[in-house]
Amino acid sequence: MKVVITGGGGFIGRQLAQRILAQGELTGPSGQREAVTDLVLFDMVAPPEEELADDRVSAVVGDITDGDVVAGVIDADTASVFHLASVVSAGAEADFDLGYRVNLDGTRHVLEAARAAGQASGGTPRVVFASSLAAYGGEVPDTVMDGTPITPETSYGAQKVIGEYLITDYSRKGYIDGRAMRLPTIVVRPGKPNKAASGFASGIIREPLNGVDMVCPVTPESRMAIMSPRTVVSCFMYMHELDASKLGASRALLLSGFSVSMDAAATAVRNVQTNRAKGEITFKTDPATQAIVDGWPKTTHSDKAGALGFPSDDNIEDVIAAYIEDELD
Ligand SMILES: NC(=O)c1ccc[n+]([C@@H]2O[C@H](COP(=O)([O-])OP(=O)(O)OC[C@H]3O[C@@H](n4cnc5c(N)ncnc54)[C@H](O)[C@@H]3O)[C@@H](O)[C@H]2O)c1
Repeated sequence: MKVVITGGGGFIGRQLAQRILAQGELTGPSGQREAVTDLVLFDMVAPPEEELADDRVSAVVGDITDGDVVAGVIDADTASVFHLASVVSAGAEADFDLGYRVNLDGTRHVLEAARAAGQASGGTPRVVFASSLAAYGGEVPDTVMDGTPITPETSYGAQKVIGEYLITDYSRKGYIDGRAMRLPTIVVRPGKPNKAASGFASGIIREPLNGVDMVCPVTPESRMAIMSPRTVVSCFMYMHELDASKLGASRALLLSGFSVSMDAAATAVRNVQTNRAKGEITFKTDPATQAIVDGWPKTTHSDKAGALGFPSDDNIEDVIAAYIEDELD
């Protein structure tokens, strides 16, 4: 069975690839579990060499804005696609045209390639799409729930919502068997900080544990909805396997995050037992970042995701322990 991960060189894509390889099989178009024999990581950037050591894995470096390239990757042999490639929020806001080319045209290329793949093979490829809490904006309640109106207020959010609608519509037509998940902020993101406004939520854990001082740009009381990398990867796997008819009229599902204050995150980092020298955490509010964060929901809760059996996290201590185990030890 051939599986493609777009954005397979990115943070979540790489971790998802490792989980698929470890599990070794997924449900194929026949409805039966099949061995994953070919896992293609498609991205602008190649993943590190060591992640390509498994002979089931290959990397294709290419641009999702080129429909021919995408059609070459998602071909008639492709049974499943995890579509994660994206220009993230700040990038899509800074460059309107790039955001639409990658996040909208790129998504259409993926869906058209999957549709053609299904028509050529006689199967219906499963496509799992990474959407975002950026689907909500404006007067968001503190807790975003299943019935919260979709009101994106950024280009990125609009592009994600359009992607969800396309996933539902292509599925309704029987071209693909699509599913989309609205992810909360995934913490802890390893490596260097990225440009996301939410980056401090990972930084407040990652930097001190790597011996680097951290200045948190929002108040200690500021709260965010987060999910760990392990759990979001479990959600991708679970969503792939789900009987999509259980999703109902919309193929898009909100995931439940949990609410953490930056104060609680700082305390948990300070209390964690480690023999590494830790960096210091201080708070110095940056009004621009604070204003953005104040507009975000404090948490997300989906009864539907819970009823369907999707996993979620519930405390920051476990998230920190998983980061230490997965990235530092
Ligand atoms: N990490 C989060 O907190 C979070 C939250 C909500 C939603 N999401 C969504 O989940 C998905 C994965 O997120 P991530 O954190 O791994 O992001 P990431 O930035 O680490 O990975 C995205 C990948 O897409 C690739 N990409 C960008 N433009 C491309 C192009 N033109 N052609 C091919 N590849 C291209 C990038 O090179 C990158 O490796 C994204 O769609 C993102 O919008 C992430």
